[in-house]
Amino acid sequence: MALLEVKGLGISFGGLRAVDDLNMEVDRDSLVGLIGPNGAGKTTAFNLLTGVYEPTDGIINLDGVNLVGKKPPEICEAGIARTFQNIRLFSQMSVLDNVKVPLHHHLSYSLAESFLHLGSYRKKEKEMDERAMEILSVFDLDKQADQLASNLPYGKQRKLEIARALATEPKLLLLDEPAAGMNPHETEELMNTIRLVRDRFKVAILLIEHDMKLVSGICEYLYVLNFGTELASGKTGDVLNDPRVIKAYLGE
Ligand SMILES: Nc1ncnc2c1ncn2[C@@H]1O[C@H](COP(=O)(O)OP(=O)(O)OP(=O)(O)O)[C@@H](O)[C@H]1O
Ligand SMILES: [Mg+2]
Repeated sequence: MALLEVKGLGISFGGLRAVDDLNMEVDRDSLVGLIGPNGAGKTTAFNLLTGVYEPTDGIINLDGVNLVGKKPPEICEAGIARTFQNIRLFSQMSVLDNVKVPLHHHLSYSLAESFLHLGSYRKKEKEMDERAMEILSVFDLDKQADQLASNLPYGKQRKLEIARALATEPKLLLLDEPAAGMNPHETEELMNTIRLVRDRFKVAILLIEHDMKLVSGICEYLYVLNFGTELASGKTGDVLNDPRVIKAYLGE
């Protein structure tokens, strides 16, 4: 059984069918790309998977659990984490605290517990610090743990977003244009980071990306969306050579 199973997924905004009859499978620990021209419905598909929008049609199962109708925090708890097309960090918080915020939700303790068992509260805080530093070190951000997030260079801010998403220990990580705005050197580094994340955290990754070098460099399988619906899917090399896909991108 695939980790993520999507069948017949659809949503309409007024008269616009932004996603229509989308079928997808993402296997455990796999690296899958979701590509397509601007406005194809890629981000909307992520919004459906994470409960930002409720689908008008279709099925979403993660590890056999139905996610349709669940709210974003429940879906996060079920094992899907994401990053956004535009950076969303707590820019006035430290790098460390950006990763600790989701950990607080994940390894939560009650207020009473924190008063009554100060010892265990401190122990959990220490555990969180250690866990957050461990995640940061994978991204080579541990030395900047005390800096404000807004003081990091752009490429590192995007890495911090991924680090933060991983704090909730997802089974599936969704990345929406992780290389957007990066220079070629930063993109190259990001590719290595994404591979490393999959191997170290044993997580499946579904990523939206326009940078074809990144897509062909790291994705094993691709889904192509066009006008809300699947245009092609298959092994990366085959899909990128598919004349229908080339045509959709060149807009002939
Ligand atoms: N909340 C909404 N209300 C109305 N229309 C929407 C809404 N969200 C998205 N759309 C429309 O749905 C279509 C798909 O948008 P979406 O953002 O999913 O595209 P995308 O594939 O992510 O594009 P890009 O590559 O430019 O990010 C677009 O026509 C967009 O205008
Ligand atoms: Mg988008």
